[in-house]
Amino acid sequence: MTKKAEWPRKLRSQEWFGGTSRDAIYHRGWLKNQGYPNDLFDGRPVIGILNTWSDMTPCNGHLRELAEKVKAGVWEAGGFPMEVPVFSASENTFRPTAMMFRNLAALAVEEVIRGQPMDGCVLLVGCDKTTPSLLMGAASVDLPSIVVTGGPMLNGYFRGERVGSGTHLWKFSEMVKAGEMTQAEFLEAEASMSRSSGTCNTMGTASTMASMAEALGMALSGNAAIPAVDSRRRVMAQLTGRRIVQMVKDDLKPSEVMTRQAFENAIRTNAAIGGSTNAVIHLLAIAGRVGIDLTLDDWDRCGRDVSTIVNLMPSGKYLMEEFFYAGGLPVVLKRLGEAGLLHKDALTVSGETVWDEVKDVVNWNEDVILPADKALTSSGGIVVLRGNLAPKGAVLKPSAASPHLMQHTGRAVVFESIEDYHARINRDDLDIDETCIMVLKYCGPKGYPGMAEVGNMGLPPKVLKKGITDMIRISDARMSGTAYGTVILHTAPEAADGGPLALVENGDIIEVDIPARKLELKVPDEELARRRAAWVNPVQPLVGGYGGLYVKTVMQADTGADLDFLVGQRGSRIPMDRDSH
Ligand code: FES
Repeated sequence: MTKKAEWPRKLRSQEWFGGTSRDAIYHRGWLKNQGYPNDLFDGRPVIGILNTWSDMTPCNGHLRELAEKVKAGVWEAGGFPMEVPVFSASENTFRPTAMMFRNLAALAVEEVIRGQPMDGCVLLVGCDKTTPSLLMGAASVDLPSIVVTGGPMLNGYFRGERVGSGTHLWKFSEMVKAGEMTQAEFLEAEASMSRSSGTCNTMGTASTMASMAEALGMALSGNAAIPAVDSRRRVMAQLTGRRIVQMVKDDLKPSEVMTRQAFENAIRTNAAIGGSTNAVIHLLAIAGRVGIDLTLDDWDRCGRDVSTIVNLMPSGKYLMEEFFYAGGLPVVLKRLGEAGLLHKDALTVSGETVWDEVKDVVNWNEDVILPADKALTSSGGIVVLRGNLAPKGAVLKPSAASPHLMQHTGRAVVFESIEDYHARINRDDLDIDETCIMVLKYCGPKGYPGMAEVGNMGLPPKVLKKGITDMIRISDARMSGTAYGTVILHTAPEAADGGPLALVENGDIIEVDIPARKLELKVPDEELARRRAAWVNPVQPLVGGYGGLYVKTVMQADTGADLDFLVGQRGSRIPMDRDSH
């Protein structure tokens, strides 16, 4: 199935470097201050290694070393590698949210690729938003591109038990509130959480998006799970460098890899791995960039019959290190293929079909990648709920939810903002018990710019102290991929956009019926109309700068929360294509 284009042929980079004109000399001459010999400008593929390394993005802190391996591979294959720093948004330090800057990063990456003499790109990514942002930017340009991720951290351990990134932060925090762990023990546990370079070691958003890149066919087979510090991660980087040169020669573009079939494969993969709900938003946005009309309904439809077979936190018990030793994502793809749940002939960046890549792999640990009859849940896909509380949809991850809450009607306890939640959640006089439904407003794309990952709001201590560990929570926020619980997220439209979530009041009755995909606010229409007429949006929109542009143009979660003017492909041709000198 390997795609071939005519070779040799004149590449895009020759529009800068080819010939003997004054401009060609200008373009080559300045670069030669780096000590490049003249023959590097002879028409060989110029490969941009787009590096999201940053000291402020610790999950990507090792990517400069990995970039050297990518370069080695590019050199070996006869290409000319050039490392280019790009916008890097760290999940754990960027404020107000890294997600607000995913689209800015995608916009910048798109222009960095288009405006410079690149024939192909290696997307060097890791932390949650870096993977989708670079995929979005590269998809809009559509030059040959390939992903290599930084890989997950090694397992954490505390007092002999595995500690999962994020997952145990939430868990220990709840244990402190419940009086089951001291603050001193919590501080001692902190040091055990990040043992090595790399991304979160759970099946959180970073590992999910690495898996999505591989399932989409945009990374070499086996890329997602190799630990950051394993020597095989460096081998993967080098092989990726070699491969991109051939992709340029073959003119194999993202639009030929990221087809509708590829997205359906990725959605089913997300269900099988118990992946992050953030993947919903990111894949919708990436699909929008390549012009594929992917919808929330595709998520519900494709994932519905897929069992969650990867026994990793937050849904299960192991971590990415064990997933790698068990065989990693290729085993999952093979299992999907055997179950008739994979478009086997989807093309990957290797030039082979996904099935050719995975059909002979072996599962080395059936307690990590489970047999079908031992699946964590038989319906692992993302559930899309609709009703008068979320006319455009809301999502829930069933593998992280409690079976006894799948059909539940309860009294709403409303928090008007995340600040309101923090101010009241620990109070003894908060009128709440485990049968209530916690509702959080104004944390959507516009309300808390970028959709804060606060949808998995912690339970009140008075409930935790009874030994209760889960309640239904509803919001227009996102939730960390490392989190768990019966958490309904991404309600669309969001409260700050006038969505019905804004109208919920304390004491209202809400019906959640996950098998029926229903989310209903049991309040008469006339009363809702009265509340709507009286509603005043409490959110002061950002004005000016990127924040102002963002809130004016960001779309809702059900369509991927991209900026509306960035949807689609714009190709690699430079507008006003004439030399500026
Ligand atoms: Fe960066 Fe989890 S915070 S990968």
